[in-house]
Amino acid sequence: MSALTASPSDALEGQVRVPGDKSISHRALMIGALAMGESRIDGLLEGEDVLRTAAAMRALGAEVEREAGGTWRVWGRGIGGLLEPDQVLDMGNSGTGARLIMGILASHPLTAVLTGDASLCSRPMGRVATPLSEMGAQIHARAGCRMPLTLIGTGDALPIRYTLPVASAQVKSAVLYAGLNAPGTTSVIEPEPTRDHTELMLRGFGAHLDVEQSDEGRVVSLKGQPELSGQTLRVPADPSSAAFPLVAAAILPGSKVECLAVGMNPHRTGLIATLRDMGAKIAIRNERSEGGEPVADISIEAGDLHGVEVPAARAPRMIAEYPSLAVAAACARGRTVMRGLAELRVKESDRLGAVARGLAACGVEVEEGPDFLIVNGKGGRVPGGATIAAALDHRIAMSFLVLGLAAERPVTIDDASPIDTSFPGFAALMSGLGAKLSQP
Ligand code: S3P
Repeated sequence: MSALTASPSDALEGQVRVPGDKSISHRALMIGALAMGESRIDGLLEGEDVLRTAAAMRALGAEVEREAGGTWRVWGRGIGGLLEPDQVLDMGNSGTGARLIMGILASHPLTAVLTGDASLCSRPMGRVATPLSEMGAQIHARAGCRMPLTLIGTGDALPIRYTLPVASAQVKSAVLYAGLNAPGTTSVIEPEPTRDHTELMLRGFGAHLDVEQSDEGRVVSLKGQPELSGQTLRVPADPSSAAFPLVAAAILPGSKVECLAVGMNPHRTGLIATLRDMGAKIAIRNERSEGGEPVADISIEAGDLHGVEVPAARAPRMIAEYPSLAVAAACARGRTVMRGLAELRVKESDRLGAVARGLAACGVEVEEGPDFLIVNGKGGRVPGGATIAAALDHRIAMSFLVLGLAAERPVTIDDASPIDTSFPGFAALMSGLGAKLSQP
């Protein structure tokens, strides 16, 4: 465990590029491994979660290498061509890595054992096991469908039509990945739309996907057994990582920060919309497309933030950003009401509980419900002066470090090591902007 302390800081200033998008990085390695021939990936997130996926794809027989200049090269085996792994696949802290790989394994005739760290082994896998079993895979897990688990895939998968019971891009992606090696059409219906990186990237690699709006919701249909061919792509900077410097700049008076080449997929921009609703001064420049995804430079200046009611329907567009939004709300004037947050309880930690407890420990008035959070901000610096348990959760760790910058007394995180899962170099990047971070 390595503790880290954030001390009250002055204005932040500068231009940064945060690391590559975690969701897109996992998918680039996985789809690259399922394609024929070579894929080249620039800007891949070299965080623990994605490195676990790289190792898993290697264990399944794909060639995955990092070249000296930082480009990653994947030599895929074609759909249905992955091999049985000799060893247990350890997905570390990554729910995305584990659930998406389960989708791929489900339609390969092989047996694989998956495990992860204490956080991942406490997370529900039934949400992917249920549809993958309908497609013909067998999954034997611990009580409550927790990992470690054994997955016996099938070379004879059935295409299904599946309505998501929870708004989850991970479940959607797992079913579509399994459907890649099933004959006929696999459809996923999402009553509430979620991030569509899987759909965009599969199309970019040559799969045939139809997306239509029906009375039931957004229907994604994939034609099975396409030939995917290797591609060259650039991963945008992760909007979920950009959230930390952006929120820090929004709450530290006099700040002016620009984040470059940030992914602007409309299913990921809920935090930007909410910060704007709260009165933050945000400018979006140089809108362009990179690797089939919209990208832009985002600049933000500190402003007088006020509390807002965040529409529950916005939750899937900013699910990873509620901890950082709660920090902005703590420094805003008035009540911020966040609803529709049940999913936050089953992330890397129970984020709803962790945020509520951490804010209260820092002297912020907060109300926690089963699926909502209300933060009563007084405007300006919060008292701070607490030590927060990161609970193996990178976003909890980074959010409370950001809060410490805007507190009257330092805030310490008991363990900063989980930050490397998604944002290697976080402390150096934030310090470069003027944040006061130090080992206690
Ligand atoms: C992700 C989807 C989200 C998000 C996770 C990454 C993805 O989870 O929280 O960090 O890459 O598909 P859910 O799809 O379960 O909401």
